[in-house]
Amino acid sequence: MRNINEDTITQAVLAAMAGCKQPRLRTIMVSLVQHLHSFAREVELTEDEWFKAIQFLTAVGHITDDVRQEFILLSDVLGLSTLVTAQNNAKPAGCTEATVFGPFFVENAPEYALGADIANGAGGEPCHVSGQVRSLDGRPLAGVRMDVWQSDEDGHYDVQRPPTETQPHTHRARGRLRTDAQGRYHFRSILAQPYPIPHDGPVGKMLEALGRHPWRPAHLHFMLEAAGHERLITHVFRDQDRYLDSDAVFGVRSTLIAPWVRHEAGPAPDGSVQERPFWTLHYDFVLNPQATTVAASGTDTAGARA
Ligand code: BEZ
Ligand code: FE
Repeated sequence: MRNINEDTITQAVLAAMAGCKQPRLRTIMVSLVQHLHSFAREVELTEDEWFKAIQFLTAVGHITDDVRQEFILLSDVLGLSTLVTAQNNAKPAGCTEATVFGPFFVENAPEYALGADIANGAGGEPCHVSGQVRSLDGRPLAGVRMDVWQSDEDGHYDVQRPPTETQPHTHRARGRLRTDAQGRYHFRSILAQPYPIPHDGPVGKMLEALGRHPWRPAHLHFMLEAAGHERLITHVFRDQDRYLDSDAVFGVRSTLIAPWVRHEAGPAPDGSVQERPFWTLHYDFVLNPQATTVAASGTDTAGARA
């Protein structure tokens, strides 16, 4: 293998991988090399541009740690996360749609009884959230494990705030609940607000250079796990948010948009009396039974909105 040139390099790399014993790895790498080489040919990549790309990826690696995941952000803003989510979560019509996971989920969040305040001190206007979880045939699902997480009024998740001496690191505006015998859930939290994804690193610089903003529309994250059903990772978005049609990570689906309703101070749905204005959100989820096969692509899904 000598005197490789512009015309023979792609074939040479593919031949070098011919002995790969893992069929799936081989499929992925053959396609990746072909597409990378086609891309470099198509844009006539210069050495300077190639080196800038190496520097960019190096910066993405340097800023990444246990808390900050710049590679996921990069995948999100390039639409790769939404593409992979969509092509792996096709469901029959009537099931609640999935959307991107995001980087702020925390394993083993505190468990709460139904009706609890999961804000746990996070700042924001009170919001009462309720709904029901059903199977595709309409049967209510009892005991469904629901993980919920959201940002506070400043647009920060708890994990983005460094612990201080007066405020040790605690779970705020996140928690785990279980639906009751009728598949119903309710909890109290805070009003979700739009927020910018972390944009003080290389991905933020890239967005700026591309003339793009880093904002996400207000949303709550949910992960639902029920026996005999596919796990659902999704959001519920706040209607009328100004970023619904320009989400920085392309995660909005119409069926996941719901009304957050503002109420003046007074009686709340949980029987308490609120001294200041509060909000309510009602949203029902429909989970896909595990055995269901899907004939078409994810575009055949429909709303599960209450
Ligand atoms: C989020 O919604 O938490 C999120 C999703 C993608 C990138 C950054 C944040
Ligand atoms: Fe989020």
